[in-house]
Amino acid sequence: MDTNRRPDSMERITTRALADAFIAEQVKEIQAQVGDKKVLLALSGGVDSSVVAALLIKAIGKQLVCVHVNHGLMRKNESENVIKLFQDGLDANLIYVDATDRFLNLLEKVSDPEQKRKIIGKEFIKVFADEARKLEGISYLAQGTIYPDILESIKQAEGKKAVKSHHNVGGLPEDLQFELVEPLKLLFKDEVRVVGEALGLPHTMVYRQPFPGPGLGVRCLGAITRDRLHALREADAILREEFDNCGLAEKVWQYFVVVPDIKSVGVRDESRYEGWPAIIRAINTTDAMSATIEEIPYEILHKITNRITHEVDGINRVLLDLTPKPVGTIEWE
Ligand code: XMP
Repeated sequence: MDTNRRPDSMERITTRALADAFIAEQVKEIQAQVGDKKVLLALSGGVDSSVVAALLIKAIGKQLVCVHVNHGLMRKNESENVIKLFQDGLDANLIYVDATDRFLNLLEKVSDPEQKRKIIGKEFIKVFADEARKLEGISYLAQGTIYPDILESIKQAEGKKAVKSHHNVGGLPEDLQFELVEPLKLLFKDEVRVVGEALGLPHTMVYRQPFPGPGLGVRCLGAITRDRLHALREADAILREEFDNCGLAEKVWQYFVVVPDIKSVGVRDESRYEGWPAIIRAINTTDAMSATIEEIPYEILHKITNRITHEVDGINRVLLDLTPKPVGTIEWE
């Protein structure tokens, strides 16, 4: 039997009862597979790796070693929230690695989007591998692979070309070959969310919008600088706060800020004030292959514009991206 193929008979997990049954079955399977050995997991804080972490903590407790790599391209407070939820809330065995300087030094002056993606992807594996080598007695690697990832690899194996090199944790180096634990590999995203809630993860975390592996790196356009990255992070936090306040966060599939490497002239405190524009992108989609634009009410746009231009150093204009996919991809890089 091909264990990477979802059987036609597999019922879609849509209810709490079905999720509980899936969890009970997976806990048994994981315990049988792993025994008393240790399992390593790269915990980004995204939905998939978080649900895998919660499931493994339930099955094997502290035999799971989570490594959270902060590549310096996370959204505001994101790493802090991962630590709060998993270390403080679920008593996870969690190693936090602040690799901000490693990533930002490598990315300095690199403006080509694909090169940026490749640097971030490769460095991520290096940092994670460095941590893995420091640990003793690890036998397994857990991954938040879900069924669309499997379908995507099948497509790529058939020679279909991707538009961008999406990065999720790729292969580890030769000296670090572990057996894989991939308990979600036959699930679709909506099922992963139902399972996550059944495991007790907060609704806001389980239903959070997607966030790309290269993080804010693909939204701080061109060569990343620390000051522009900081401005982007602050502007993005304001957008998210205002979307939460007005209920759009529950409705819109993905929304974020992009900051390009151009400056325009403005005025602040009656003086010339050069700054970058913050570009708002808010889209809806079902599968991320095509996307439409959310029509954000003007009064909300005015409020966000006012806050970003007054509260964020370095930003003097706010623009709105009205481009559906195609022609624009969802991320700008
Ligand atoms: P694009 O920009 O290709 O994005 O239209 C489609 C969806 O994928 C997300 N995205 C990524 N997700 N690793 C990920 O896990 C990546 O490298 C990556 N790049 C883009 C993007 O945010 C959108 O939801």
